[in-house]
Amino acid sequence: MKNSHIAFIGAGNMANSLIRGLLAKSVPAAHLHATDIDPEKLLSLQTDCGIQIGSTAEVSANADVIILAVKPQVMAAVCEEVQHHIKKPGCLIISIAAGIPLKSLESWLGESRAIVRCMPNTPALVGEGATGLFANTHCSASNIALAGDILSAVGITCWLKAEQDIDIVTALSGSGPAYFFLMIEALEKAAISLGLDATVARQLSIQTALGAGKLAADSDVGPAELRRRVTSPGGTTEQALLSFQRDGFERIVANAVEAAQQRSAELAK
Ligand SMILES: NC(=O)c1ccc[n+]([C@@H]2O[C@H](COP(=O)([O-])OP(=O)(O)OC[C@H]3O[C@@H](n4cnc5c(N)ncnc54)[C@H](OP(=O)(O)O)[C@@H]3O)[C@@H](O)[C@H]2O)c1
Repeated sequence: MKNSHIAFIGAGNMANSLIRGLLAKSVPAAHLHATDIDPEKLLSLQTDCGIQIGSTAEVSANADVIILAVKPQVMAAVCEEVQHHIKKPGCLIISIAAGIPLKSLESWLGESRAIVRCMPNTPALVGEGATGLFANTHCSASNIALAGDILSAVGITCWLKAEQDIDIVTALSGSGPAYFFLMIEALEKAAISLGLDATVARQLSIQTALGAGKLAADSDVGPAELRRRVTSPGGTTEQALLSFQRDGFERIVANAVEAAQQRSAELAK
């Protein structure tokens, strides 16, 4: 990865987090290139990170990897521009755009290009992202390793068995941060309505989410066992969990994830 020239088309939130993650992994700033239609955004990224900036033509020409980090609605036009400027044979393309299938990317970029489609999430901004990836049939083992290394700079990565799994990943980890924010908000509101100070309620809700996530990530047992360990028979947690169960908590979550998955599949059409 450290020898590859990586070009970002679109220098917004996700590109920023990936660039900062790659710099933190000691990828030289001289090997990172970016373009954006907003010259001010591009200049401030150059000032902050010391990376190379240029036009789409300039950054694409020298790239070993091109990361398409623009919004889905401009992806067709961006791909058609990019494909005229790719010079290196075997250049790997990585798309992070939601809802753009490989079939469309291949038709815009050329049928034989090595393309990886992936779905990161916003905790990538703090190096705690979760990304699902799927490669087309033109990707070599080294393309796959390189794409994995790049996305691993901002969190964990999981390779998927089928492209449609991206719709499930979108519903799980892509949209998932919002579900946890909603849980934090709901906990905070519940504690305030019981009389707790608002600042204390916010601090404790956020830290509890962080602590539970870290404990689950670091533990050698699954979340169900961790839940059992905090649930003493006849205790307070048991009362809360019974209340969740009575109100159909698992069904509520399953319905929400299914709704997001269906929407992701619709957008991909
Ligand atoms: N944010 C997320 O949670 C998330 C998660 C997973 C995947 N994604 C995907 O990641 C992609 C980028 O998302 P983001 O949140 O980083 O978006 P963003 O902050 O809006 O970044 C996209 C950037 O591309 C620029 N741009 C637009 N047209 C361009 C062109 N023709 N050439 C070069 N740059 C152009 C935009 O400029 P303007 O703002 O001036 O238009 C903007 O600076 C999207 O496809 C999204 O689906 C996002």
